[in-house]
Amino acid sequence: MTDKYCVIGNPIAHSKSPEIHAAFAAQTGQDIAYERRLAPLDGFAQTVRELVAAGYRGANVTVPFKLEAAAIATRLEQRARLAGAVNTLRFERGEIVGDNTDGPGLVADIVRNAGVPLAGKRVLLLGAGGAARGVILPFLEQGPAAIVIANRTPATADALVAHFAGHAAPGQVTACGFEDIEGPFDVVVNATSASLAAAMPPVPAAAFCQGTLALDMMYGKAPSPFMAFAACHGAAARDGLGMLVEQAAEAFAGWRGVRPETMAVLERMRSTL
Ligand code: ATR
Repeated sequence: MTDKYCVIGNPIAHSKSPEIHAAFAAQTGQDIAYERRLAPLDGFAQTVRELVAAGYRGANVTVPFKLEAAAIATRLEQRARLAGAVNTLRFERGEIVGDNTDGPGLVADIVRNAGVPLAGKRVLLLGAGGAARGVILPFLEQGPAAIVIANRTPATADALVAHFAGHAAPGQVTACGFEDIEGPFDVVVNATSASLAAAMPPVPAAAFCQGTLALDMMYGKAPSPFMAFAACHGAAARDGLGMLVEQAAEAFAGWRGVRPETMAVLERMRSTL
């Protein structure tokens, strides 16, 4: 029998996840169906109950339900607990297991696809919201020399440093305001939501140098203002499409026990932007 999955969000029509998972299923010979599911803004938990009752095996979760998904999970993987957010649910043995594959997806895109190891590197993380929080533990697992979190509201970045203190060496994760950024960095990740408004965080040019990898979690037809600025100052700029495909691959592997190849799928998704 075909195993059923879906992606839950509001809005959801724009989601590329069905296309990505269909490509993974075809490539690995897995018999799954994967669809978009619009949940009412006040009806996420009810939607999940309906999916469980209908025999679904799991779901991805996107905006604005990632925090609620963490709250309704009966069990959380450590990386989801620390992220405080869930993008992947598994319905198994009467449990709703919450996972977060966004951070591992970003790490896979940087290390494997972009070919930039994070061990010993200096990383600048712009933003301290949910997107930033989700990547810190997966980054730390790679053994970077330093992670500096810069945020418009410095107190939020300070809170993130405290949150991850038990998982980092003393001084490995620090926080600052944008005006105090002292570069250059090996890797700069834009985890602010500024690109959504066609804006960019006020990151100084000194954050970048020749050889810096500058990655925006957002993606689109054209480079974001952040990517354009970083490229102007010598960085190799990359958007968030690779992260999107890699977080899906990590979710697929968790559900099916098979890891799909991502390169061809990423190229296909790029060509349809
Ligand atoms: P997400 O879940 O996408 O991380 P969020 O939790 O609302 O969304 O966090 C948005 C992040 O983008 C925050 O770090 C926010 O900074 P503040 O904490 O100061 O609000 C940051 N952000 C949004 N717009 C920005 C802008 N124009 N310039 C700089 N930072 C911005």
